[in-house]
Amino acid sequence: MKIEFFSAKKYDKLFFDEANKAYSFDINYHETHLGPHIVDLIKDAEAVCVFVNDKLTRAVIEVLAAKGVKIIALRCAGFNNVDLQAAKEFNIAVCRVPSYSPEAVAEHAVAMLLTINRKTHKAYNRVREQNFSLDGLLGYNLFGKTVGVIGTGKIGKAFINIMLGFGCKVLAYDIYPDPSIEAKGVDYVPLEKLLQQSNIISLHCPLTAENHYLINNKTINQMQPGVTLLNTSRGALINTADIIEALKTKKIAALCIDVYEQEETLFFKDLSLEIIGDDQIQRLMSFPNVLLTAHQAFFTKEALQEIAQVTLDSISQIDKNTMPNNATVKLV
Ligand code: NAI
Repeated sequence: MKIEFFSAKKYDKLFFDEANKAYSFDINYHETHLGPHIVDLIKDAEAVCVFVNDKLTRAVIEVLAAKGVKIIALRCAGFNNVDLQAAKEFNIAVCRVPSYSPEAVAEHAVAMLLTINRKTHKAYNRVREQNFSLDGLLGYNLFGKTVGVIGTGKIGKAFINIMLGFGCKVLAYDIYPDPSIEAKGVDYVPLEKLLQQSNIISLHCPLTAENHYLINNKTINQMQPGVTLLNTSRGALINTADIIEALKTKKIAALCIDVYEQEETLFFKDLSLEIIGDDQIQRLMSFPNVLLTAHQAFFTKEALQEIAQVTLDSISQIDKNTMPNNATVKLV
């Protein structure tokens, strides 16, 4: 089977080529994303493999169907970039990797928290300049602090376990509380109480129509002054304009984000020689108490191995008609 593989990076090729030794698919890697500009060039492929910024609109899916493509394999968990209804109508199966390494994302959130708090990123540069002073590097103990976790699914749970290990008190908010988390001594509380009582708040819920801009002027006002906020989930959980204001007034003492509302045009690209037109991200990057990474929380060897393995296995199973229709992996 031929698979046209879009938005391919060097590391994708490395891990997919390794996993493909067990399948021997003919994988054709393209650096460009899948969209109307390239879909007409697809020939003889039965599957396309895509990532978060590929555009699987109805028009693109219609062309894929006409070219005989039978499978859209998302090598990520989210599927907001695929018109599932159109895929169904054109009889194209859609699969995804619902979970690859929750620990990878949780550990990155912790790495960001430790970095912004203990300022190791500044210390690293400072000592290389033979500046051994400590001014400006003051942090706080995590031990004994109250951490509010919004969304206690796979990643939230992994994050909670680490925070409990640090000796933090954990408060949680989820629309579906999990008794196994309460058994660890974590209290589920209403969102407002979590916002009011937490020294550190970490977002681990998916982006939905209901929680778009969950963090906005109103919810920021409910937080303690000097709070540290972490977002490794989805950019639009935070209203960027409101968070910039809160950083300016010092209501928020530190912000760590691995995701950004307008990341689509920026992330996964080297733009070091470009002029960036997005003033909000430039403003965010200008704050000394903001740590921004470019959607790398998932980026560990274990996660990439799992993504490649599950994606190719799903394609193989769908091809052989042995995959049950199940919304977790096979969406259509
Ligand atoms: P999950 O589905 O296991 O858990 C999500 C939890 O959020 C569930 O318990 C659900 O009940 C809860 N939830 C849903 N809506 C909510 C709301 N309005 N308020 C509070 N809780 C709500 O998902 P998982 O695997 O833990 O992933 C969480 C999110 O992490 C993903 O949706 C994705 O946005 C993000 N993610 C980020 C990655 C990165 O590299 N930065 C990589 C993978 C996922």
